[in-house]
Amino acid sequence: MSLLLFPREELTALAERMLGATGLAEHAAELVAESLVDADRRGVASHGLIRLPIYIERLRKGMVDRTAVPTVKTSGARAGVDGHNAMGALVASEAMGVACALADDYGIGTSVACHSNHCGTMGFYARRAATKGYLAVAMSNAPVTMTYHGGRTRAVGTNPLAVAIPRPAGSPVVLDVASSAVARGKIIVAERKGESIPAGWGVDPDGRPTTVAAEALEGAVLPFAGPKGSGLALVIDVLCGVLAGAASGPDIGDMYENWDRPQNVGHVFLAARLTELLDRYGPALEEFLQTVQDVPAAEGFDSVLLPGEPEERAAQLADRRGVPVVASTWTELCALARELGVEVPVGAPELSSS
Ligand SMILES: NC(=O)c1ccc[n+]([C@@H]2O[C@H](COP(=O)([O-])OP(=O)(O)OC[C@H]3O[C@@H](n4cnc5c(N)ncnc54)[C@H](O)[C@@H]3O)[C@@H](O)[C@H]2O)c1
Repeated sequence: MSLLLFPREELTALAERMLGATGLAEHAAELVAESLVDADRRGVASHGLIRLPIYIERLRKGMVDRTAVPTVKTSGARAGVDGHNAMGALVASEAMGVACALADDYGIGTSVACHSNHCGTMGFYARRAATKGYLAVAMSNAPVTMTYHGGRTRAVGTNPLAVAIPRPAGSPVVLDVASSAVARGKIIVAERKGESIPAGWGVDPDGRPTTVAAEALEGAVLPFAGPKGSGLALVIDVLCGVLAGAASGPDIGDMYENWDRPQNVGHVFLAARLTELLDRYGPALEEFLQTVQDVPAAEGFDSVLLPGEPEERAAQLADRRGVPVVASTWTELCALARELGVEVPVGAPELSSS
């Protein structure tokens, strides 16, 4: 398996032009491209450019509204955002921004969004809010690809949750997890690479444990920590689906499999304004985080890392060496770019083995 390395700006510009070629509005294309390349840059390949072809296919087939603009209704510190079936990144970004704006007025702000689509990594939205001084929580429901603890078949999404904590200096702490053992995208990546998957990631269509990526993709992903990940997914589906007025459970359209309806994904965001408090709590936070990092490393580990640290390190490396893209994904993107009439101006990529 080989990885190709590209300058971040060139990858982003290419993705933006490809999305733009479908008729997607410039602002939305910019946002989607940025969110996908940011994922690859942070080493979260499961939610990077590997998703661009399916995003484009859904745009071209009218499953996502290229021109939709999310609308917002506020009531006190709460907001409801109707995505009107716009690209998920556009809806999520708007809703996170609204929660932050409400936090400016009320100290804390929340937003719930319906009629949205897959929006990539939740950490993208929470991290951006945290870098502006907000404590941020972001969650989303997702189509059913996971089984509940004790269940045999797909029944719930790998519903992700991100919590980002701003720091006085440096990158925020960002916990960003799926409620499954791993994001399903990682199984897609393993299948692409022709690799098997660890036990505990998924079950085959008969509900039997499997280490064959293709079988788990046909079957179901398993929750993390059994009933805990399973329960987290359920709670997120209630908040983002049932209570947000979006679809929930099997009613959510699957991005890859359902071509008869929009996804109607829902999201929930929360922002608390900490800007003025950072001076007060900042030193205590740093002291606390240092005690975490000072925990003696276990065998096989160099040190204890903070949530978000692996992604931050990957981002710094990518800024020096280039953003990694799996070779087969790159081949697919080039073919799609040609089909869309988009030139691929990126120079000969540097090869690296993984
Ligand atoms: N939009 C959707 O429908 C959807 C659905 C599922 C997942 N996702 C996204 O998929 C991405 C991947 O999710 P995942 O659950 O596979 O992620 P993961 O299992 O890689 O866990 C990532 C989290 O664990 C932390 N982490 C990883 N290694 C660490 C270490 N050694 N020490 C300390 N912390 C460490 C990371 O900083 C991060 O916060 C997330 O960005 C999530 O938002 C999106």
